[in-house]
Amino acid sequence: MESAEIARRFLRFFEERGHKVVPSASLIAEDPTLLLVPAGMVPFKPYFLGQRKPPAARLASVQKCVRTPDIEEVGKTTRHATFFQMLGNFSFGDYFKEQAIPFAWELLTRSESDGGFAFPEEKLWVTVYLDDDEAIDIWHNKVGVPMERIQRRGLEDNYWHMGVPGPGGPCSEIYYDRGPEYGRDGGPVADEDRYLEVWNNVFMQYQLSAVRSKVDFDVAGELPAKNIDTGMGLERMATILQGVDNLYEIDTTYKILDSAAELTKTRYGRDPRADVSLRVIADHVRTGTMLVADGVMPGNEGRGYVLRRILRRSIRNLRLLGSGDERYMHELTEVTINAMGETYPELKVDAPQIHAVIDAEEASFLGTLRTGTAIFDVAVEETKRKSGTTLSGDQAFKLHDTYGFPIDLTLEMASEQGLKVDEEGFRRLMKEQREMAKADAAAKKTGNADISVFGQLLENAGKVEFLGYDQTSAESSVVGILVDGASVPVAGAGATVEIVLGRTPFYAEGGGQLADHGLLRTSGAEVDVLDVQSPIKGLVVHRGRVRVGEIRVGDEVQAEVDVERRKAISRSHSATHLVHRGFKNALGETAAQAGSENSPGRFRFDFTAAGAVPPSVLRDVEDEVNAVLINDLKVNAFYTSQAEARAMGALAMFGEKYGDEVRVVEIGDYSRELCGGTHVHSSGQLGLVKVLGEQSVGAGVRRVEALVGIDAFRFLARESLLVAQVTEQLKVRREELPERIEGIVTRLRTAEKDLEKLRSAQVLQIAGELAAQAHDLHGVSVVTHRAPDGTGPDDLRKLALDVRGRFPGDRPAVVVLAGVPSDRPVVVAAVNEAGRERGLKAGRLVGVAAKALGGGGGGKDDVAQGGGTRPEAIDEALRMVAETIAGQLA
Ligand code: ALA
Repeated sequence: MESAEIARRFLRFFEERGHKVVPSASLIAEDPTLLLVPAGMVPFKPYFLGQRKPPAARLASVQKCVRTPDIEEVGKTTRHATFFQMLGNFSFGDYFKEQAIPFAWELLTRSESDGGFAFPEEKLWVTVYLDDDEAIDIWHNKVGVPMERIQRRGLEDNYWHMGVPGPGGPCSEIYYDRGPEYGRDGGPVADEDRYLEVWNNVFMQYQLSAVRSKVDFDVAGELPAKNIDTGMGLERMATILQGVDNLYEIDTTYKILDSAAELTKTRYGRDPRADVSLRVIADHVRTGTMLVADGVMPGNEGRGYVLRRILRRSIRNLRLLGSGDERYMHELTEVTINAMGETYPELKVDAPQIHAVIDAEEASFLGTLRTGTAIFDVAVEETKRKSGTTLSGDQAFKLHDTYGFPIDLTLEMASEQGLKVDEEGFRRLMKEQREMAKADAAAKKTGNADISVFGQLLENAGKVEFLGYDQTSAESSVVGILVDGASVPVAGAGATVEIVLGRTPFYAEGGGQLADHGLLRTSGAEVDVLDVQSPIKGLVVHRGRVRVGEIRVGDEVQAEVDVERRKAISRSHSATHLVHRGFKNALGETAAQAGSENSPGRFRFDFTAAGAVPPSVLRDVEDEVNAVLINDLKVNAFYTSQAEARAMGALAMFGEKYGDEVRVVEIGDYSRELCGGTHVHSSGQLGLVKVLGEQSVGAGVRRVEALVGIDAFRFLARESLLVAQVTEQLKVRREELPERIEGIVTRLRTAEKDLEKLRSAQVLQIAGELAAQAHDLHGVSVVTHRAPDGTGPDDLRKLALDVRGRFPGDRPAVVVLAGVPSDRPVVVAAVNEAGRERGLKAGRLVGVAAKALGGGGGGKDDVAQGGGTRPEAIDEALRMVAETIAGQLA
């Protein structure tokens, strides 16, 4: 039975039993406590907690999930995968155990012709939480499972929670016995490879306030209702129903595995090590593709890091199979898109962007591998030279941090060299770095406030209505005030506050658009708003300072947005849409938005592109966009369904494909995008758009920066003035400028070279004079001399060596010269071999002089150089050098 058919049967079964089927949510968790969605229930957390009303009391879904804690196990066992799909039925205060258990049993054991999965009853085992006699009673007396196939297990196995505060409860799992050839008798407690878990039924009834580990958590109390959350692993079901050995061999993943084997000319099933690599590739390429499709970009933090690691592990395993510098990710991604595209049609639509991101990461990682290997070799050599046996944590961290070398790669390459790696040191440095990054992010987005405070506010206040599309000022009321992250009833003048209003015209930073600024005015207070954020969905927080008076929860408030700032930001936002369309027109649909920032008068726009964008393309895009401005196209915003928006060809960022209703912003018939931002009314209001340039900001991502409106005009006016000044000065016409400047630069270079030659000749000319002036000190020729000001350090050195060379080989000689090339003094010493035999050391003499000059320096015994900060001390320094020499020779 194909994977798609398994999903269809599951959903049909529960639809027939009154469940509303909802589509998978994005892999990017909306929940601020999670990076990625690891279970089917995640999108429904607020329903379990009673914070929001579910669209129906019974839901069913197939949810995309990513879990990476066991990433090292992937490919080695039969059942670990980083991406999987969870089939689930959910009840929110509707049915409970008595119905959930028979539902699951019925679907598993029903005949195929009746829409079931036809599992033989005697092959199914169940586990329940230790003291859950109620569940045992249902399994045994209602369903008829014999007691010997029901096992009790503890917290570790039969209690489920999200790993973070939220809902949880005891669970009951159903296992399929794959037969004695897969392991020991004795049920799931004895062997989880033979008895494969296929379905978990969680009896969600508690609210957990703190979660320290799987078995260590605090229960705050009961949930408002008794709920059901179940999860059936689609891939595990497919493993059983398709009669294959492991989940990498099922219909969807096997295609990727097969293709990887073919590309690397490897045979699956021959060599256990190669098999692990093939399975890792099959799993990881699929996970990577699904993450990219949901809008995750490779990076060094958070989700980006998860994705980067997964893609790099795929590439690394391809290399282990002998791919060398060949690039295979494109083909493997294509196979994945085709395999998964039936269930997730957006993969096919977004294929060009998905390829662009993955190809770019591959190219950059292959480059990384080349440079990193060179650095690695140096580290190995250094370690071996010091007779060490361990690469330091520092070296491993640098390889990782600067060169993107995964630690497993460093470990493996080190062991090939017979070396160990200080993994503990490495992990400590990694942890420090992560913590720093986390603290940074937390400080920026949520101040010091614990996110739960915001949750509480949202619960009290409800979703904040945004009025800012049509209004820049509005009457509202204060529903919450935070000071230092804690709720307070009142805040006085001077306090830094976060204020939540019942409704607001203020735009919270989001979708690349910067926050509005402005003023909140009550009868007793004025608050300057300097930032607006939405720390959790539905809540808008105004940050600022109470300028005068006291503001209280419950106050009526007049909220006034700084209109000029808002207008300038809106112009930037509309301009970003135009530039996005412009680049797509010029470079093709693969030029997809990867990020943006719309600030007053200025914006930056990041997009995917394989390489640098030529200046001619930048000019064309700019030209096209400005033509759109002149045509003064109307800007129109409206709400529609996800499907309708797609049908109209509205551009969406990756990951913007969720939710039923979406907002579309169109600028005439030139541009159409999903967007929640604020915009101008017609394109003519932008005035002018000036693209400043283009640069790389990461693998396969380019950034353009541009000015809009009066800022663009002022920039051009300044440039124009500058050109006018230069033409005036050079007395040429504008169009002759480049040629004239090139001529001047060439002549200048030649003149500089000539001058340099002349100066060197002059310097060397005095070499003879200096050598002649040497005085004898205990049989040593000594020259100490102050060179003319302006003599450069190189000339000084040349001169010292030249003077030294003028003494016969057997004559001990020391030459010390000092000078002031520009503003700081420099000293050079040179001692010939015979002089060194008399104990004179250039480095030491320079040290003496440099100290007198207020600086430092030193070097070898034969030549050395140093400097200082006190040009006025040159004579003094030379005198001290002469004294030192005399003292040494005496
Ligand atoms: N939420 C449960 C799980 O993920 C069903 O196993």
